[in-house]
Amino acid sequence: MSRDKAITLHVNGRPETTVVPPHRTLLEALRGLGHVDVKCGCEKGDCGACAVLIDGKAAVSCLTLAHSATGREITTLQGLGSTESPHPLQQSFSDLGAAQCGFCTPGMIIAAESLLRSDPDPTEEQIRHALSGNLCRCTGYVKIFEAVQTAAAVMRNAGEAK
Ligand code: FES
Ligand code: FES
Repeated sequence: MSRDKAITLHVNGRPETTVVPPHRTLLEALRGLGHVDVKCGCEKGDCGACAVLIDGKAAVSCLTLAHSATGREITTLQGLGSTESPHPLQQSFSDLGAAQCGFCTPGMIIAAESLLRSDPDPTEEQIRHALSGNLCRCTGYVKIFEAVQTAAAVMRNAGEAK
């Protein structure tokens, strides 16, 4: 007997329903729903490419069961901003060359956003620690850390201007 079950995930502010077995990961469910901005890397929790925000905190979706994510707010990279209206992190990654092949970028930005929501003015050491679960084969990380610092300053200034 099939144990597949319909579940509703709240992704980027919208409800989306899918039918999945109990063992289906959130990564598989999201990509099956077309959220290919959530990248599939190691599927073992090692690379951070699949990170999403769950209730505002970064989590690796490859180690999260889809069923356990029902009733929670899931945010992917595309939920933060768009080409027309980029999030400050997306803008700074682009401006500073912190994205090269781009495969790690969604997870990096999600991890950085999670950090900045809890600490708007982190030290470089805190940024390095927050992104330590995200692997990049291209950039050497320095530009990524600079991009996070730049975006944090932009976000703080925008907050002060309100
Ligand atoms: S794909 Fe999830 S941590 Fe690598
Ligand atoms: S930009 Fe290629 S893996 Fe990070």
